[in-house]
Amino acid sequence: MKFWHNVIETAGMAGSFHLVLLGFIIAALVLLRVRPRELARVRAAALLFALGCVGVLLGGALLYVISADHVAYVTIRGISRFLETVAIVNLAGVFLFAVVLSALRFEAPRILQDLLSGVAYIIVALVVLSSSGIDLRGIVATSAVMTAVIGFSLQDTLGNIMSGMAVQMDRTIRVGDWIRVGETEGLVREIRWRQTSIETREWDTVVIPNSMLMKGTVTLLGRRTGESIQSRRWVYFNVDFRRSPTEVIRIVEAALLAEALDSVAANPKPHCIVTSFTESWVSYAARYWLTDLARPDPVDSLVRTRIFSALQRAGIPLSIPAHAVFLTEDDEHNRERKKVERLQRHIAVLEKVPLFHSLNSEERSALAGRLKGAPFIEGEAITRQGADAHWLYIIASGDAEVHVTINGNTKHVATLHPGDFFGEMGMMTGEPRSASVYAKTDVKCYRLGNEDFHDIVHNRPQIADDIAHTLARRRLELEVIQGKISLETQHQRMQQTKGDLLGRIRGFFGLRA
Ligand code: CMP
Repeated sequence: MKFWHNVIETAGMAGSFHLVLLGFIIAALVLLRVRPRELARVRAAALLFALGCVGVLLGGALLYVISADHVAYVTIRGISRFLETVAIVNLAGVFLFAVVLSALRFEAPRILQDLLSGVAYIIVALVVLSSSGIDLRGIVATSAVMTAVIGFSLQDTLGNIMSGMAVQMDRTIRVGDWIRVGETEGLVREIRWRQTSIETREWDTVVIPNSMLMKGTVTLLGRRTGESIQSRRWVYFNVDFRRSPTEVIRIVEAALLAEALDSVAANPKPHCIVTSFTESWVSYAARYWLTDLARPDPVDSLVRTRIFSALQRAGIPLSIPAHAVFLTEDDEHNRERKKVERLQRHIAVLEKVPLFHSLNSEERSALAGRLKGAPFIEGEAITRQGADAHWLYIIASGDAEVHVTINGNTKHVATLHPGDFFGEMGMMTGEPRSASVYAKTDVKCYRLGNEDFHDIVHNRPQIADDIAHTLARRRLELEVIQGKISLETQHQRMQQTKGDLLGRIRGFFGLRA
């Protein structure tokens, strides 16, 4: 019984050592049960407590042979009490941060936890030392000198530690963020006192001194205020020049939007752009927003395969980066052959235009030789209202829309299709363009200059008559839309307007009435 009495005496704790011991064991077991992740810290606390217990038992035994004020006993008692109190402080820290604060949804930065524990150790040490009868004033003075010496020699380390504290306190960078520092990209796994560890996609861990994070530029990948985490990716591909970019873009965008792709954000939508023209192909990029920042390459690959198969279905092969050298024998015969082919194409276009049905084949060939190709892509303006008129346009493929702007309001007038012509009003009368015409889809037009048309109209005044008819109809439609005349007036005025216009056309082209 005397031994147990000695042990209780050594442990202090107001004689409740056994209760404290029991409480410690229960608390440690409970903590391990609710927070198994904290095993390392609980184990460290338990080890300290066990060491303290060994000291207490040793002290209890020593009292058989030496007196209570013997320096050996006092030292062992001081150390044991210190170890036990530190162990209790540690366990209480785990309980506070891992259970209480985390239940309140407050994740205290690791450095804050360490700092508070450090302060608690110092207080414990001071209390234990002072209760052991040691003069604290001397220690405080010496520790100030020591701090200065240590601080001076550990400037770099302290710089890192201060940066680490700053990084953690302002929480700009958090565990779980994807960041880029210099060339390195990775997931922040741990922010410690001195360094931050990031895990790269290559399965490496890169340790970055905290001072580098504070001094250099850090990119937080995919983070934007108020938005979900997602990062834009560019997937490049090349297609031959001969394919229309509008068509390629439409096919690729349709393929990327058809069914949702894993880890591709729905908003903003994936889209496709032309990035450059090279020697023999057009470069494109499909851009999408990646939601799982750990998987850029597999998702890029998914996007590439979608693009590939969509283009294959449309019969558009990807262009391989190669130099194609076309060797053409540029002799008279070859030039003549090409000229004939072009003429045939133009004649085929003219044959589809009702306006020119009255021409005989000779006249049509003559006109075909003067046609000039003019392609426009979707959305482009072909003529603008108010501009000077130089060309008559014939649509070979695609659709165009006629718009008129009245007092700042734009109205749709008509949609023109292959075989239709436009631009006749300005060209035949010399007036500025009465409306704007836009390519609704990609449009292939042929155009004819004023002088080219001159001869044809001279030889076939019938054409001037046909044009005057279309022109009169369109002009009256335009005037109805502009609110200048009513629908009834439109019908009544048709003959008169046609007659007027024919007169003006004849005057413009110097034809006899
Ligand atoms: P121009 O005035 O030279 O330029 C604009 C062209 O739009 C015009 O010739 C016509 O060819 C065309 N246009 C104007 N009004 C109409 C209409 N009502 N229907 C179809 N085309 C029209």
